[in-house]
Amino acid sequence: MPWRPMTSPDLDRVQELADRIHVDHPEDRDVLAERLELYPEGCHVLEEGGSVVGYALTHPWTFGEPPPLNERLRGIPPVPTTYYIHDVALLPGGRGKGHAADIAERVAEHARSEGFTNLSLVAVNGSRRFWERLGFRAEAVPGLETKLLSYGSDATLMVRDLTTAGRR
Ligand SMILES: CC(C)(COP(=O)(O)OP(=O)(O)OC[C@H]1O[C@@H](n2cnc3c(N)ncnc32)[C@H](O)[C@@H]1OP(=O)(O)O)[C@@H](O)C(=O)NCCC(=O)NCCS
Repeated sequence: MPWRPMTSPDLDRVQELADRIHVDHPEDRDVLAERLELYPEGCHVLEEGGSVVGYALTHPWTFGEPPPLNERLRGIPPVPTTYYIHDVALLPGGRGKGHAADIAERVAEHARSEGFTNLSLVAVNGSRRFWERLGFRAEAVPGLETKLLSYGSDATLMVRDLTTAGRR
């Protein structure tokens, strides 16, 4: 599949894509670069026709405590309790071909192989239905409501159990 590991030279393009795709959720280059530095095995880019048209940023994290947008993580928790999908984003031309579902499955396999029992993420931009198709369910965590609002009014914490078989 056309996904490959992200490397430092990809960061300018990834930042450009992030700015174009997530107009309402801008993140600084430093913040994206730190994800790659801290957990390169969780960072991927999608290439089509010789150009990067999408990216995925993922890393181990603490369940129920999604990192604030546009802030550095400052480290991976020593005892992480979730495998967190920070973002999967494709330019419109790269969508609708199963690429996002492919990388989500690859991420799930990686997380499972590292011993994680769940994946979690904050769904934004009306992506909740997409994640539901991949086996994620909305999860209410008391006290998280205000923090989620900083991601946007439709932001939803979603979880996928990795201890049961397959997606859907
Ligand atoms: C969300 C996103 C990554 C999905 O990418 P995509 O390439 O369309 O996804 P896929 O082609 O892999 O679709 C997988 C399945 O989900 C479905 N799907 C995709 N987007 C959907 C949506 N918004 N609502 C409902 N279903 C959706 C597809 O129809 C497909 O279903 P199928 O397996 O029955 O054919 C893409 O729309 C995107 O980059 N959006 C902007 C960034 C964003 O909001 N990312 C999520 C941040 S949490």
